[in-house]
Amino acid sequence: MKEIKKITILPGFNKFGKKENFEKIDIKKGEVIAIVGPTGSGKSQLLYDIEKIAQKDTKSKRKILINGKTPEKEWRFNPKRKLIASLSQTMNFLTDMRVRDFLKLHLESRGKKTRKGLIEEVIKEANEITGEAISPEMNLLNLSGGQSRALMVSDIANISTSPVILIDEIENAGIRKEKAIEVLIEENKIVLIVTHDPCLALSADKRLVIKNGGIIKIIETSSKEKEIAKHLNWIEGYNLKIREKIRRGEKIDKLEIYCKTI
Ligand SMILES: Nc1ncnc2c1ncn2[C@@H]1O[C@H](COP(=O)(O)OP(=O)(O)O)[C@@H](O)[C@H]1O
Ligand SMILES: [Mg+2]
Repeated sequence: MKEIKKITILPGFNKFGKKENFEKIDIKKGEVIAIVGPTGSGKSQLLYDIEKIAQKDTKSKRKILINGKTPEKEWRFNPKRKLIASLSQTMNFLTDMRVRDFLKLHLESRGKKTRKGLIEEVIKEANEITGEAISPEMNLLNLSGGQSRALMVSDIANISTSPVILIDEIENAGIRKEKAIEVLIEENKIVLIVTHDPCLALSADKRLVIKNGGIIKIIETSSKEKEIAKHLNWIEGYNLKIREKIRRGEKIDKLEIYCKTI
């Protein structure tokens, strides 16, 4: 597959038929873009446009360019050239299968040889994302929401070869979000993430604000906002830690305080 250096969004129309007020939005390799806005405003639609590499043929009439050009048909329709991996709220990979077998199957379908230890690495990384350890012998059907999303993230990062990753609202899954994002951007991909989570939104390089089906603002994350994101991440991590302790039946007798003023 040719290298994807950037994708470009050209304006379409909002739900009222008003043209989006920007010339173009370039998203470069290695960038993480958050998509924010109220429920029903059109966030998933924007991901859909990118997933389908829309050519003015979706509801929004947006056009997506790859490396500055209209993509060849093959990129849009050939499933083998899987350009885009998406991680959504609905997990459609869940079948009656052991974790190890699922990962092996996925590796084989990607045409990769099962390098010794790779499956273990994928599971190890997933376990850094979830608080509840996954073992290779577990059945996919018995995984919790957090475990299955963590596995999916690690799978996308380590096995999938797609250069563009779309993530739709994974925040309520009980995973270490910061770690999940870190794992995904390690690979120098393009990551677009729909989120209501302030900590995720502020960890991105830019955020696109959606209203009434249209992109109304493009905000570069300021260094102050990135700093605030780190604090929110700490609180998040603390919350997860306490949650795990409570689940293990432990008592909480100490309050950790993160005191750093910005
Ligand atoms: N620009 C647009 N033009 C027409 N319909 C749109 C547009 N953007 C979104 N929609 C439609 O509005 C509905 C809600 O959008 P959706 O993307 O699901 O919202 P969100 O993910 O923000 O909750 C969907 O049916 C979607 O297809
Ligand atoms: Mg949505």
